[in-house]
Amino acid sequence: MVYESLPRTVRILLLGDPGVGKTSLILSLVTEEFTEHVPSKAEEITIPADVTPEQVPTNIVDICVAEQSPEQIVEEIEKSHVICIVFSVDRQETLSKIASHWLPFVRDNCHHDLRKPVILVGNKIDLIDYSIIDNIWDIAEEYPEVDRCIECSAKNLINVSEMFYNAQKAVLHPISPIYSIEEQE
Ligand code: GTP
Repeated sequence: MVYESLPRTVRILLLGDPGVGKTSLILSLVTEEFTEHVPSKAEEITIPADVTPEQVPTNIVDICVAEQSPEQIVEEIEKSHVICIVFSVDRQETLSKIASHWLPFVRDNCHHDLRKPVILVGNKIDLIDYSIIDNIWDIAEEYPEVDRCIECSAKNLINVSEMFYNAQKAVLHPISPIYSIEEQE
């Protein structure tokens, strides 16, 4: 079995429906506080190696469906190493869209033998008092590229750094041989 060498930087892309909190998650990570009014799209952020748990420089990229074309989003998927698909735990339709749109969309735009790891992120857990992690796992079971599911809150800073750390780990310590290039040869 032949593996592609692991990248020296990790590029994390956040995808998901409008309003689920992608920009807020990035800004909460960087500023360690929640700001109610955020821009529609965060500037690309580079986190230096020495402040990441895995000691690898990490780029974090936001998307905004309203401002970017599908072609631009596909380009970002191609450039990324790991994709966090975010939904809002208080809006069932944003969870449904993960299986009906986002996971197939990512799959369609990754080479079959080079599937990128995906993290499913349920944001805004401050708004509910129950866990929906079992519903997420039901979706994840059909998509082996889903490395992990996590619930978090950009507002209360719950599991925010853990989400980005898990994304890094999914690239640097893949559970399955996602980077296998065996069948290309
Ligand atoms: P688009 O730019 O449309 O793609 O949205 P987005 O996914 O980047 O969402 P954004 O970060 O702009 O947040 C949307 C709204 O949700 C804002 O009013 C945020 O303040 C709010 N929000 C984000 N995260 C949380 C959270 O964890 N809890 C709560 N209660 N509100 C949140």
